[in-house]
Amino acid sequence: MTIVKTKDFLEDARRILSEGGLVAFPTETVYGLGADARNAIACRRIYEAKGRPSDNPLIVHIGEVEQLEELVREIPDKARKLMDAFWPGPLTLILKKTDLVPDSITGGLDTVAVRMPSHPVARELLIGTKIPVAAPSANLSGRPSPTCAKHVLDDLQGRIDMLIDGGPVEIGIESTILDVTGEEPVILRPGHITKEMIEVVIGEETERSNWDGKREEAPKAPGMKYRHYAPKGTLILLKGTFDERVRYVQHELQRGVSARIALLTKDQDMDRLQDYFPGVIILSYGNGDVDEASRRLYGLLRQCDDLDISVIYSSVFAPEGKGFAIMNRLEKAAACRIVDCSEV
Ligand code: TXA
Ligand code: MG
Repeated sequence: MTIVKTKDFLEDARRILSEGGLVAFPTETVYGLGADARNAIACRRIYEAKGRPSDNPLIVHIGEVEQLEELVREIPDKARKLMDAFWPGPLTLILKKTDLVPDSITGGLDTVAVRMPSHPVARELLIGTKIPVAAPSANLSGRPSPTCAKHVLDDLQGRIDMLIDGGPVEIGIESTILDVTGEEPVILRPGHITKEMIEVVIGEETERSNWDGKREEAPKAPGMKYRHYAPKGTLILLKGTFDERVRYVQHELQRGVSARIALLTKDQDMDRLQDYFPGVIILSYGNGDVDEASRRLYGLLRQCDDLDISVIYSSVFAPEGKGFAIMNRLEKAAACRIVDCSEV
């Protein structure tokens, strides 16, 4: 496997993608694992490398809007406005696909997910090769998405042909996914482009997909039905004031939770928590800023794995704006284990 820093990767990447190989590369959200989207055999290798269920479709990454011509049948006005406003950037649009997009990368759906990432390395790769690149996050299926090259290596070394190391990513959680194929746009996955930002641009309300994983029908983004973003330990989200959370964890420890535990919190609480829980591993989301927290989130969950933590207690974020997206990922990683400490 070739591992390159961000200089002079283009020729190797072009050759590998053209020959049906797999190239991991940085985007502003998370690292992606890419193959030529028009090459069904190459794309099948993505599923094999990740251990990804074959009905979970891939996002196609492009460098220029003109590339949409071969990928999608129509571009609704709303979609155009959103592309003008947010591309390149962390917004994925679901559009009706052409026959050039292999069914195997859309899980048999007649739609395709497309996005134009803004990371300079991703842009150089996509504009330089002119290849539409199908790329899921570059992690083993079920593990937290990779936010630096080391995470990609930890999961995929020996399974891919090339890794372009662009350092740590800027955003840290995956793009917002918006379905614009119906009457009303529907957010299938929240991200840093928020519902409010989308509504300002299109001048109308958007829906949020409210699939809760329990109903019979399939979710609109097939990936949503799988347990996602999961650390190896059990993650438990704690709501409540600092004192209420401390009391809850003390109680759990007294009850004999003999597990190796970690606490995830913000900088301001680190020292006070360490006083209450000497010897316990305490990790920080930063100073409470949601951008910083989302940049750190998956790295912290992976760090807990490396430290063999079996129970992780995490504080929560206000589910507003970008905080809504962080909470979406945390709730999935925690399989909805949320304790309101003011009530126990
Ligand atoms: O930020 C991102 O979006 C990153 C970077 C690498 O671009 N990619 C990413 O891909 O998160 P992945 O494969 O981990 O997540 C793609 C999600 C899945 O939940 C999948 O079900 C959904 O997109 N998806 C893909 N195509 C779809 C379609 N045609 N209709 C509905 N959902 C779709
Ligand atoms: Mg993923």
